[in-house]
Amino acid sequence: MGEKGILLVGLACLDIINIMESFPEEDTDSRCREQHWQRGGNASNSSVVLSQLGVKCQYFGTLAKHRLSEFIKDDLDKHGVTVDNCVYHDNCTVPTSCVIVNASNGTRTILHANKNLPELKLEDFERLNPNLYSWIHFEGRNIEEVMKMISFIEKFNNEQSAKDRITISLEMEKPKANVHELIHHGDVVFMSKDYAKYFGHSTAEEAINAFHPKLKKGATLVCAWGDKGAWGSDGSDGNIYHSQAYPPDQLLDTLGAGDTFNAGVICGLNQKQRLLEALTLGCKLAGRKCGLHGFDGVATGFV
Ligand SMILES: Nc1ncnc2c1ncn2[C@@H]1O[C@H](COP(=O)(O)OP(=O)(O)O)[C@@H](O)[C@H]1O
Ligand SMILES: *[C@@H]1O[C@H](CO)[C@@H](O)[C@H](O)[C@H]1NC(C)=O
Ligand SMILES: *[C@@H]1O[C@H](CO)[C@@H](O)[C@H](O)[C@H]1NC(C)=O
Ligand SMILES: *[C@@H]1O[C@H](CO)[C@@H](O)[C@H](O)[C@H]1NC(C)=O
Ligand SMILES: *[C@@H]1O[C@H](CO)[C@@H](O)[C@H](O)[C@H]1NC(C)=O
Ligand SMILES: *[C@@H]1O[C@H](CO)[C@@H](O)[C@H](O)[C@H]1NC(C)=O
Repeated sequence: MGEKGILLVGLACLDIINIMESFPEEDTDSRCREQHWQRGGNASNSSVVLSQLGVKCQYFGTLAKHRLSEFIKDDLDKHGVTVDNCVYHDNCTVPTSCVIVNASNGTRTILHANKNLPELKLEDFERLNPNLYSWIHFEGRNIEEVMKMISFIEKFNNEQSAKDRITISLEMEKPKANVHELIHHGDVVFMSKDYAKYFGHSTAEEAINAFHPKLKKGATLVCAWGDKGAWGSDGSDGNIYHSQAYPPDQLLDTLGAGDTFNAGVICGLNQKQRLLEALTLGCKLAGRKCGLHGFDGVATGFV
């Protein structure tokens, strides 16, 4: 059967990035300095980075049965990410994010559309063979259904010996309705700076001290903080660790830095690195990513 892989669960979308000299005026016809299409989505971004790190990984989500999905699928294929288990839906449009970048001052205006693509259901998840995975990561969306999927893995784990249990990681990104329920269920929880700030914390350490007690016993809480690097509390020894950031010579593109960081931490911990080592790998990779457009070459020199 071979080595077990990592499964990343989330939504993949099409990002159309428009770079303008200045923000367009309403009811005018303007040219972009540059326009490109790229595959997006948090979990799908992380899967591309993990694959470049040499990890066997699979993206799992719903896709529209539509020609535009081929663009998403081809990009994942190109990066060696398996998409074979994705669930296709008829008569749906592909979720898209249109981004308008005002090159004069760097603002990004994002227009997200998901007309009718259904979210993943527990039934879809139950069709997977859990024996194939050492780690499953969930994007912080579709919470109600994700909670059911986590219960499914928890049941599976209860019947396994320690070495065959699946590690569950989760992202708590936007302080939406019931995201906080997730915190009790992750072995590794990634909390965003936005989430921490929303609850009034002005540093990662403060947020970690406040939220760590809500985790299940022995779990790890990780909080990245832009150019300050990242902090994590290790549930096995109770310590808080910090890695500095590793800025590139020139900041080119920070979109997807967090997704890259998560991939680095997951990769490290999945290989049984200590938390500090994994945080450092995450920050080094994310720093590298900030000096590149997109993800190509992000892991060069790390594997
Ligand atoms: N300006 C930056 N310089 C260096 N590293 C950065 C910078 N911004 C982000 N990073 C790296 O990316 C990681 C994730 O940062 P974060 O702010 O959470 O990203 P995002 O904005 O994508 O959510 C940080 O821990 C850091 O290592
Ligand atoms: C994923 O990566 C792409 C390409 O770097 C980026 O445009 C996008 O913002 C990232 N995140 C999401 C959620 O799509
Ligand atoms: C998709 O649309 C076609 C044409 O309207 C219809 O025949 C088909 O049943 C629809 N499929 C689903 C899954 O709704
Ligand atoms: C875009 O940048 C220009 C130059 O700084 C500024 O005048 C304009 O208001 C900006 N537009 C938006 C929507 O941010
Ligand atoms: C860009 O311009 C807009 C509109 O004038 C302004 O609100 C915004 O603060 C500016 N952003 C930056 C990063 O300068
Ligand atoms: C997920 O994507 C959103 C953009 O849609 C971004 O703001 C956020 O930082 C991403 N999460 C991580 C962990 O990077």
